Amino acid sequence: MRRLVVIGIGMGPQHVTPEAAAALSSVDYVLSFVKGADDPLVAVRAQVCRRFGDVPLVVVPDPPRDRADPADYPAAVRDWHAARVAAYRQVLTERPGDVALLAWGDPSLYDSTLRLVDALAADGDVTVEVVAGISAPQLLAARHRVVLHEVGQPVHVTTGRRLREAVDAGQDNLVVMLNSTVRLDGLADWQVWYGANLGAPGEQLVAGRVSDVQAQLVAARERARAADGWVMDVLLLRRERP
Ligand SMILES: C[S@@+](CC[C@H](N)C(=O)[O-])C[C@H]1O[C@@H](n2cnc3c(N)ncnc32)[C@H](O)[C@@H]1O
Repeated sequence: MRRLVVIGIGMGPQHVTPEAAAALSSVDYVLSFVKGADDPLVAVRAQVCRRFGDVPLVVVPDPPRDRADPADYPAAVRDWHAARVAAYRQVLTERPGDVALLAWGDPSLYDSTLRLVDALAADGDVTVEVVAGISAPQLLAARHRVVLHEVGQPVHVTTGRRLREAVDAGQDNLVVMLNSTVRLDGLADWQVWYGANLGAPGEQLVAGRVSDVQAQLVAARERARAADGWVMDVLLLRRERP
């Protein structure tokens, strides 16, 4: 049986757990997509591979995703996913051995690696293992020294695209990921805890009442992008109780 090991690497080598390190040094190679010639997250993956077992990194160009029609977002994602499965399947056919796939953060949150691996495992003769990593919301909470929810209360995890819908449905404590901008219209009296490029040199943190810090959030996002050449951010948003 061939092993496919999905390893959460947190936000970089500093978050690789001993369990992840052991899994890395147990495989023959690591497989990763690369988005363009200077994909910064591939550079981090390469660093992880060098540091933990000097395991070879095999990179595959990430198939392009059709973003022309945002109304048909699920179909675009489905097609992209199928193209990614085909690309990995080709490498697996050509290169024998046990393989690790590195998930940014933890594979359980907004990550398609497990779906991809399930599709590959359907080909047979494959066992799948998963090693947990530190996710962006966990790191956000640690940096701000907060719990993601109040005592005994829930937290709703969603995307920037679906924030409005969640607020309209009555959610009042949210972790928001996959943001393309920081737009918090109508949430002026909420509290926000914000983190951009957590764990990277350009890391930015902002916290406060939305009306007080909204301009700072936008500036922080731009500072992170300028420092690292990329930006990813996560927010904890909470409606203040009267
Ligand atoms: C494709 S999802 C992957 C999430 C990842 N699996 C995790 O466990 O956090 C990417 C989103 O995670 C968040 N994210 C990932 N890395 C981040 C970082 N270094 N700083 C802040 N947010 C980050 C952002 O919301 C980004 O849009």
